[in-house]
Amino acid sequence: MSDAPEVKATSNGISPPSFHLPLPDRPDIITANIQKLTELTPNPRHRFIFKALIKHLHQFVNETSLTTDEWMAAIDFLTRTGQKCTPLRQENILLSDVLGVSALVDALNNPVAGGATENSVLGPFFTEDAADVGFGESIASEGKGDYMYVEGRILTTDGQPIPNAVIETWETDDHGFYDTQYTDRSHPDCRGRLRSDDDGKFGYRAVVPVAYPIPGDGPVGELLLLLGRHNMRPNHLHMMVEAPGFHKLVTAFYPDGCDYLRSDCVFGVKKSLVVNLKDVVDDEETRKRGFPQGGSFKLLQYDIVLLTEDQSATIRAGVEERYTITQDHKSNKS
Ligand code: BEZ
Ligand code: FE
Repeated sequence: MSDAPEVKATSNGISPPSFHLPLPDRPDIITANIQKLTELTPNPRHRFIFKALIKHLHQFVNETSLTTDEWMAAIDFLTRTGQKCTPLRQENILLSDVLGVSALVDALNNPVAGGATENSVLGPFFTEDAADVGFGESIASEGKGDYMYVEGRILTTDGQPIPNAVIETWETDDHGFYDTQYTDRSHPDCRGRLRSDDDGKFGYRAVVPVAYPIPGDGPVGELLLLLGRHNMRPNHLHMMVEAPGFHKLVTAFYPDGCDYLRSDCVFGVKKSLVVNLKDVVDDEETRKRGFPQGGSFKLLQYDIVLLTEDQSATIRAGVEERYTITQDHKSNKS
C-alpha cells in the first residue's frame, strides 16, 4: 500500500484545442504552434500582449542563436533578481529601469502638451512618511548638504494658479544616500510634504542634490558591469504633485552641468527638466531665507504646470492613435 493521497492529479479543466496542431518537429513549427494556441486567450488585451511577446521572444532566440548555456545564465539571472527582492528592495523594477523599460512605459503613459511639466521616473526611494513642511521651511536637517532654496508656482496650462496642491519632495543628502538607506534611520529626512498657497506658490529649503549610484550589490549591478555601463544617476530633486481634478505628476529636476546628465543609468532626464541653479552669494539674503549658517545658497526656480485629468486623457488618446498600427491593437484596448 502506498502512502499517496487518494486524489488524482487533474488538468486545469481546459480541453485540447479543436484545431489540428502539427507535432513541433522543426523550430518554426514550435513558433507557429504557440502562436496558434495563443489565439485561444479569452481576454482580447491579454491575447494581443502575449501574441506580441511570443513573436518577439521567438524572434530574439532565433536572431541571437541563443545557446543552452546562455539561456541557463538568463534563467539564473532572473531567479537571482527575484530572490533579491524584499519589501524594501525591488530588483525587478531596477532591472526594468536600467533597460529603459520603466522610462518608456512612463513616457507612453504620461505624454504632455501645452507646456505641461514632463514626468520622470519615480524610483524606489519615495516614502509615505514625510513630515509636513510649511512655506519656507526645510526638508533637510542642518548639515545634510549645501543650501538650496526651491521655489515656484503650481499652474494650469492657462497660467492660472492651483492652490492647495500637495507636493511631495525627496532627495539624497550630500553623501548621495536617501534617508532610507541608513540602517539607523529614526525619522524622515531630506523629504517633505507641502502645499501650494492661494497664489499657487511654494517655497522650501533643501540641499543641493549630488549624483549617486543606484543599488549595485545585486544582479542588476552585475548586469551593468557586464554591459560596461556606469550605475550613476545625475543629481536631481524629486517632486510629486497632486491636486483634485488634475493628473498626478511624478517628476524630478536635474541641475545642469552634471557629468551623468546624458547617460542617466535609468533614462529619467528630459530636456525640459534640466534646470540652472542660481548662485546667491549674499549672507543677509541667505539668513533671510532661513538658512542658519548664512553665507550663500543655490536657487532652483521652476513653475510646475499640471494637466487636468481631461486634458491628460485627450493627449493620451491622441498618442495612442498615432502609435496604433493595426486594427487588432485598437480593438483590444478598452
Ligand atoms: C531614483 O531616482 O531615486 C531612482 C530611480 C530609478 C532607480 C533607482 C533610483
Ligand atoms: Fe532619486
